[in-house]
Amino acid sequence: MVDIHSAIASLDWSKEPQGLYAPIAYTLRAGGKRLRPQLALTACRMFGGREEDALPAALALEVFHNFTLLHDDVMDHAEVRRGRETVHVRWNENTSILSGDQMMIEAYRLLSQVPADKLHKTLRWFNEMATEICEGQQYDVDFEQREDVRLEEYIEMIRLKTSVLLANALRTGAYIAGAPDEAQQAIYDCGIHLGLAFQIQDDLLDVYGDPKTFGKAIGGDICCNKKTYLLLTARDRADEVQRTRLAEWLKHAPGKEKIAGMTALYDEIGVRGIAEQAIAQHTAEALGLLDTLPQNEATDFLRQLANKLENRTS
Ligand code: IPE
Ligand code: IPE
Ligand code: MG
Ligand code: MG
Ligand code: MG
Repeated sequence: MVDIHSAIASLDWSKEPQGLYAPIAYTLRAGGKRLRPQLALTACRMFGGREEDALPAALALEVFHNFTLLHDDVMDHAEVRRGRETVHVRWNENTSILSGDQMMIEAYRLLSQVPADKLHKTLRWFNEMATEICEGQQYDVDFEQREDVRLEEYIEMIRLKTSVLLANALRTGAYIAGAPDEAQQAIYDCGIHLGLAFQIQDDLLDVYGDPKTFGKAIGGDICCNKKTYLLLTARDRADEVQRTRLAEWLKHAPGKEKIAGMTALYDEIGVRGIAEQAIAQHTAEALGLLDTLPQNEATDFLRQLANKLENRTS
């Protein structure tokens, strides 16, 4: 079996100029769950493929994911990730831009090593995914300035910024293994639901997580007026008085007070339980789709992973 952790660790960043490459090594060696490459390799095993054939795509997806994090942390003014200073804090924003760009290029270099007969479609899908992530990130930023974002719009935004990467990891692994078309679609849809659950959980952890395990600062979303599952649910369920208070906190400057005030409102309205229900629903949808696929060790592994993610703390 391919050890994805050592495969990522063995990527070489010792070249010059280190101003460009050191932040890449710093990012890729800071840990992380390695969820996306694991999905690609597991889907490949599910359909009887050789993991080695899916490895270039798996690595490309992880490097691409890490690239998005460098730019995302600038956009979100985030100062901590994986328990360490983000790249723009440790270095500066120019470094996040350029080292991030180089990571994207590196992702495509890795992708070019996909078996030749599978490269065309893999590349087309990867491009579609990358564009959708940018679209999702743009909506995410646009929504900071809007107070009338509907829950459906939020779901579409997180489908784009988060789900398509998980979904495409699963589909690409399955495709490289030679899975039939319908199964490729089913495993993609499974990844979409897994991703929706994953992002709602991320929204939840951003408020209720333990910074020691989560590795990110708590309250970052509140400070940016991110239209998260929690905020939209709170707005939709608030009584008139609560809605006025919520509107006031949205106008409040970022900081401890704002985080405490908004969190108190969330607690009062009980949004945590509602978010947990949504996570459970999307996880159940994902598990239901897994039941339609071949049943083997890989399917069991994905099932366990989906259940573990539902209760994750990091
Ligand atoms: C962070 O992804 C970005 C989101 C989609 C929420 P992960 O939570 O998978 O980050 P790492 O790679 O494990 O650090
Ligand atoms: C993740 O959104 C989406 C992408 C990075 C593309 P977040 O902004 O919620 O991710 P974190 O919380 O910073 O990891
Ligand atoms: Mg962010
Ligand atoms: Mg973001
Ligand atoms: Mg987040």
